[in-house]
Amino acid sequence: MPSAKLSVETLLPKPWLQRLLPKRLWCQALLIQTLSILLIAGLAPGVINSVFAFELSHLGISLEHVWIWLLLHICLVSLLAKAAQMPVWWRWIHAIFPVAVLGMQHINLPATVYLAGFIITLTLYWSVHNTRVPFYPSFPATWRALHHVLEQHGDDAPLKVLDIGSGIGDLALFLASQRVHDEVSGIEIAPLPWAVSAVRALFSGTSARFTLGDYRELDFAKFDVIFAYLSPAVMPDVWQKVRAEMPAGTLFVSSEFPVPDMTAQRIIYPQKNAPALYVYSL
Ligand SMILES: C[S@@+](CC[C@H](N)C(=O)[O-])C[C@H]1O[C@@H](n2cnc3c(N)ncnc32)[C@H](O)[C@@H]1O
Repeated sequence: MPSAKLSVETLLPKPWLQRLLPKRLWCQALLIQTLSILLIAGLAPGVINSVFAFELSHLGISLEHVWIWLLLHICLVSLLAKAAQMPVWWRWIHAIFPVAVLGMQHINLPATVYLAGFIITLTLYWSVHNTRVPFYPSFPATWRALHHVLEQHGDDAPLKVLDIGSGIGDLALFLASQRVHDEVSGIEIAPLPWAVSAVRALFSGTSARFTLGDYRELDFAKFDVIFAYLSPAVMPDVWQKVRAEMPAGTLFVSSEFPVPDMTAQRIIYPQKNAPALYVYSL
């Protein structure tokens, strides 16, 4: 009888708080922050004042100080985040976020600065909650390594190369400047990085082109080489699309994030601090 494969995750009971919270981490974070603020604002002043009033005045601690409440809030959100087993970086965000809010209130910046910050963040990260891939640029060592892969791939016939999630266009512009006969393009979902790449392409003197859009809606069959620098969360879906659409003899190259359970034909380590490049031949 075939034995069912159970992952360790399914065997371990979920922590009680995680069972109550929504699945998405940012929703969990918002709920934890709100819960802590409500608890501290609603219960803490009365309880602390009535139980520790004497000790506090003896120590010269005044509850008027907002920093006392901030400290309490940070301790509480950190505990709740730990109880919910949120990843470590979220616990840091939990601690830094309220300090930043209070700090910014003290600086007293005009509202337009916040509006500008909001617009920049929105257009830079756009639908990250849906795509699960934020913007961060690749390394020059990665561009050179990919250039080397293209030089070795096939004969001298021009290639159609696509960067899925092309950011501000660094990689595609570099390739287009080195391999002038190739057709190099990028597709980017977030408006700000796409606009930057499109303007750079205009002044670059290369033939690189950038489209504003979602690579998930693009036909991969049109390309000889597809490069991705995305995130581990999307690699299984990307690979499924690559396998379904890219013809034999083409290449899929991923920086830093390998395709799970697939052995890459080549793994290139471009430089000490640059991530590995995983090359898959279709
Ligand atoms: C890690 S950055 C890599 C940028 C660029 N490829 C480089 O090497 O510098 C990933 C980019 O993919 C974009 N992205 C994420 N999901 C996407 C999607 N479904 N369609 C198009 N772009 C996407 C993000 O907005 C982000 O700019």
